[in-house]
Amino acid sequence: MAVQRTFSIIKPDATNRNLTGAINAVIEKAGLRIIAQRRIQMSQAQAEEFYGVHKERPFFGELVEFMTSAPVVVQVLEGENGVAAYRDVMGATNPADAADGTIRKLFALSIGENSVHGSDSAENAEIEIAQFFTADQIVG
Ligand code: TYD
Repeated sequence: MAVQRTFSIIKPDATNRNLTGAINAVIEKAGLRIIAQRRIQMSQAQAEEFYGVHKERPFFGELVEFMTSAPVVVQVLEGENGVAAYRDVMGATNPADAADGTIRKLFALSIGENSVHGSDSAENAEIEIAQFFTADQIVG
């Protein structure tokens, strides 16, 4: 597997608790490089677009409300097999199911307030990165 980029968000539950640095330390310890990073207040339209795949799900409204409730940190990560490597270090969606040492096991509060997002495929990573970064903002 080659070096690959993925898209990450440090979510409001984590920024509220001042955990950006602690989460970045876990990311870097896992061998992923943070090659772009910006703190933003996500708009309702941005959150609805980003999670569009979930718009028919019962939790969609709450998810959009949560993602716009406080600043988030959007990131591009790069590493060997980056998409899967970040999914591994994030842990399961529900922190109750997440393995020891993963970000969600360490920091997440609930299935909704689960501290981080990471792309689930290389194709989605490309789409998600393009929603928040221009090519010149990513310095690998
Ligand atoms: P999903 O893409 O299934 O998980 P992941 O973030 O691990 O890729 O879901 C997206 C987000 O939606 C998830 O991180 C939190 C929220 N969510 C809920 O609030 N309740 C749920 O039952 C599910 C499945 C997700």
